[in-house]
Amino acid sequence: MRVTVYNCREFDEKELFLKYEEELGMELVLCPDAPDTENARLAQGSECINIITSKMPRSLLQVFAGLGVKYVTTRTIGYDHIDVAAARELGLTVANAPYGPCGVADYTVMLILMTIRRMKRIVERTNIQDYTLMGLQGRELKDLTVGVIGTGRIGRTVLKNLSGFGCELIAYDLYESGEVKDSGISYVSLDEMWRRADVISLHTPLTEDNFHMINEETIARMKDGVMIVNTARGGLIDTGALIGGIESGKIGGAGLDVVENEFGLYYYDHKSDILNNRELSILRGFPNVTVSHHMAFYTDDCVETVVRDSLLGCKCFSEGKENPWEVK
Ligand code: NAI
Repeated sequence: MRVTVYNCREFDEKELFLKYEEELGMELVLCPDAPDTENARLAQGSECINIITSKMPRSLLQVFAGLGVKYVTTRTIGYDHIDVAAARELGLTVANAPYGPCGVADYTVMLILMTIRRMKRIVERTNIQDYTLMGLQGRELKDLTVGVIGTGRIGRTVLKNLSGFGCELIAYDLYESGEVKDSGISYVSLDEMWRRADVISLHTPLTEDNFHMINEETIARMKDGVMIVNTARGGLIDTGALIGGIESGKIGGAGLDVVENEFGLYYYDHKSDILNNRELSILRGFPNVTVSHHMAFYTDDCVETVVRDSLLGCKCFSEGKENPWEVK
C-alpha cells in the first residue's frame, strides 16, 4: 500500500518514516510541504494521506477524494483542522494519532516550577553574569494550593506528578473522575478554585463554553499573586485581561505554552519579521512570564508514537481491520 505523507520533517520524522515504511511493508511518498492543490498530485495512487495541523477544508478534501484518496490521518491528537463532516460526505475516513499524556504533564510541572521559582529571571541574569539575588526569591510548592482545571488524561497525570511535592491539590472538571477522588483530591466549584488556588493549571479542550474562562472578572476573584499555567489552548485565557492582571500585580507570574492567535506563527522562523501579534510580544517581554511555542508535546516518545500509529491506522484501514485511530 502507498501513503503520501505531507509536512514530513527532515530533522526528526523522516528517519522514523523510513524505519516504519520498511517494518510495515508500505510505500511512502514523503513531502516536506503542507498539502495544497498543487502538490495533491503526489497522492495519485495513494489510498491514504498523512498530514499534521494544516487546514483541510472541503475544497482541498475534494481534490484528494478526486485523486482516489480514501483515508486522511493526522499526526496529532486534535483534528479540528479537518472538515470532518465534509470528509464523511466525500467518502473519506478521518483518523488521528493520540500520544501519551506524560510529555505534556512533565512540561506542565516544569512550567509550574519555573513560574514559582522565577526561573526566567534567573536564566536571564546568569546569561549576563549578573549573579545577584534581589528579586529572585521563589516559593515552595508545599506551601501552595495548586488547582487543576480539566482532569482528563493530561490533567490527571499532572495531579499524579504533583502529588509528591506536598502541595494541596484541588480540581475542577465538568465530569468528576473516580480515580482523582480516590486519590484524596477534592473537586471544587470554579468559584472556589478562583478563591483558593495559588497556581492554576489549565487542561481542558477549548470549547464555546470555556472560551476566555480566565477573564477580567474571574481574575478579579483570584488570589493576589496567583500564577497561571496554560499548556492547553490559548483561547481559554483572555490575553488582554491576563496582561492587565500582570501589569497590576494581581497575577504573580505565568507559564504559557499556548497563546491566542498562535496559528501561523508557531513552528516558523520569524526572527526577521514584524509580528502581527502584539499581545504575544508584550507577554514575552514580562520578566515573570515564560512563553514557549506550543512545545509541551514535543518529545522523542511522542514523535515516534504519532509516526508509527498514523501508519498503523493506514494499514488497518487498507486491510479492512478494526481501526482504533479512526475518528467516529
Ligand atoms: P482529555 O479529553 O483526556 O481531557 C479533557 C478534560 O477536560 C476532560 O476530563 C473533560 O471533561 C474536561 N473538560 C472539557 N470541557 C471542560 C470545561 N468546559 N470545563 C472543565 N472541564 C472540561 O484531553 P487531554 O488529552 O487531557 O488534553 C487536554 C488538552 O491539552 C487538549 O484538549 C489540548 O488542548 C491540550 N494539549 C496540548 C498540547 C501541547 O503540546 N501544549 C498537546 C496535547 C494536548
